[in-house]
Amino acid sequence: MDLFEYQARDLFEAHNIPVLAGAVATTAEEAERAAESMGGKVVVKAQVKVGGRGKAGGVKLAEDSADAKVKASAILGMDIKGHTVHKVMIAQAAPIAEEYYMAILLDRANRNFLVMASVAGGMEIEEVAHTSPEKLARVGIDPNVGISREKALEIVAAGQFPSDIADSVADVLLKLWAAFVAEDATLMEINPLVKTVDGRIIALDGKVTLDDNAEFRHPSHEALIDHAAANPLEAAAKEKGLNYVKLEGEVGIIGNGAGLVMSTLDVVAYAGEKYGVKPANFLDIGGGASAQVMADGLSIILGDPEVRSVFVNVFGGITACDAVANGIVQALEILGAKATKPIVVRLDGNNVVEGRRILDEAAHPLVQQLDTMDGAAAKAAELAAK
Ligand SMILES: Nc1ncnc2c1ncn2[C@@H]1O[C@H](COP(=O)(O)OP(=O)(O)O)[C@@H](O)[C@H]1O
Ligand SMILES: [Mg+2]
Repeated sequence: MDLFEYQARDLFEAHNIPVLAGAVATTAEEAERAAESMGGKVVVKAQVKVGGRGKAGGVKLAEDSADAKVKASAILGMDIKGHTVHKVMIAQAAPIAEEYYMAILLDRANRNFLVMASVAGGMEIEEVAHTSPEKLARVGIDPNVGISREKALEIVAAGQFPSDIADSVADVLLKLWAAFVAEDATLMEINPLVKTVDGRIIALDGKVTLDDNAEFRHPSHEALIDHAAANPLEAAAKEKGLNYVKLEGEVGIIGNGAGLVMSTLDVVAYAGEKYGVKPANFLDIGGGASAQVMADGLSIILGDPEVRSVFVNVFGGITACDAVANGIVQALEILGAKATKPIVVRLDGNNVVEGRRILDEAAHPLVQQLDTMDGAAAKAAELAAK
């Protein structure tokens, strides 16, 4: 999960990383009041989960609270790289002397973490990384060892920070690492980390990605989810514990096992080329799927207005085909009149003969069976094209 800047700010603050006062506003009036409470001179910042807001005009200095209102009303509603601005953060304006860069991220390829630090931070950091990579220190961190103060100072030196601030920058890095570990993050970036004219080191912008796999360890992260942005079908599926991903297409897909579902998407995409239709979703109902899980899955897929046909592709293993077939029959009973779209079923594997017999006997008007995956994909694509 990616966080908004204001959430990253709050998280940094909770881990004693120096930040400035900040408040969120969804209207220009709220922005004005927040600016007033911060003494007038503030920065109004678009809250969108995308970088380069400054260059896109989403970060503006306001001279006083009336100006903050004007700036906020200009930024609210703005489109930044396809993201509409619904919130702004009102941040105290920092008297900036220098802008630095610091980040910790998961380095999957090398199976460890990576710290990047540079004295040349700010909005041009990508350019710096490109044209003068020697200015960007990149240091691998062994997760079993972590970052000691010595290591932090080494990194700060490699990032070419001047010696008079080395200690305080190292301090921020140690706190950032502690926060990174404690929150199970995969990315924590501060850009810019600034030195103010009076010599303080402060994190002015934060980008944080939390590891969803560690969600169970962090009940507090639940509150950080942006429910407004979540796809309603994905949200409903998540609530039911289903592995569902919405895609842009017309053929709803249900399968058991992520590998089988992935190849089902491929086969349907291929079969659909002829008709200009595509798979509408990924949905893995896993092994041991009960009738209720099948019903939940079907109801999510049938709730997708784009879907025009459904392909249920099941390979019976420990859960045999007869159990799956009974699940489909019961699911259709549970759904009743809510089941409205043609459903193509391909069963194979353990106890397939009995499974197919059960579906034949039920003779549900929406259901038709095909023996092969390719044949079923072609049929589902054809039905979606009608
Ligand atoms: N609180 C602040 N006070 C003063 N200047 C700021 C403040 N926040 C951001 N800025 C300036 O705006 C620039 C862009 O803001 P930033 O938050 O980094 O957004 P983005 O990275 O999305 O462009 C910063 O590099 C900094 O120069
Ligand atoms: Mg930034």
